[in-house]
Amino acid sequence: MSAAKSVRLDKLLANLGYGSRREIQGLARSGAIRLDGAEWPEAGDRIPLDPDLPQRLTIDGVPLDPLPGLCLMLHKPLGVTCSHKEAGPLVYGLLPERWRRRDPPLSTVGRLDKDTSGLLLLTDDGALLHRIISPKASVAKRYRVTLDRPLSGREAGVFASGTLMLEGEERPLLPVGLDVEDETHCAVTLTEGRYHQVRRMFAAVGNHVTALHRDRVGGLALPTDLAAGGYRVMTAADVAAVFAGL
Ligand code: URA
Repeated sequence: MSAAKSVRLDKLLANLGYGSRREIQGLARSGAIRLDGAEWPEAGDRIPLDPDLPQRLTIDGVPLDPLPGLCLMLHKPLGVTCSHKEAGPLVYGLLPERWRRRDPPLSTVGRLDKDTSGLLLLTDDGALLHRIISPKASVAKRYRVTLDRPLSGREAGVFASGTLMLEGEERPLLPVGLDVEDETHCAVTLTEGRYHQVRRMFAAVGNHVTALHRDRVGGLALPTDLAAGGYRVMTAADVAAVFAGL
């Protein structure tokens, strides 16, 4: 068994957003940092990066934030933007303030429009992010759609054909599944993530999306008890579920 990687405590805490290395040295000297209940006064000392560190290390009596390698599921509400820098409310504003200073930073895995709600993943693990969005992984996303006008009955065929061309694009869409719920409600399942894809698909068949909600990413469903605006740290099983089929 290989020993856990070790890191300087001041570097780890600075990268988790607790302050500058100098501020963290001050915290340590003031006795605010404890490991297994004992004060850890030397912020420059190395500490084993054990996965259970957040349960063993406290700062001012509060357990350490999740270590790098963090993956979150968030129930994105309407009206917030998936961006680090645009004007108006941002998804990152739904997370603890300190998490916005993490390095590596948390990023959304793909995007949902401002006017789309539902399951949004965030991670600071760039390799995982790319694995989820990679066309090779073909991770299916399911969207519940509310339409302005009744379905005509020909949408399923058009979407499944693999020939639908969106305005301004050069390649047709990969086939998209459609499950009709009633004449103005349906679910679509797609593996690509083109800009405003679902809204533009329905525009291409002469309809208009009035509400859009993503309820699944791969085999991971948005938990019914996760309210809009809430988030949860994903377990290894949740991450595995993303790569399991719908
Ligand atoms: N398709 C859209 O049109 N919007 C989204 O947010 C996601 C998929």
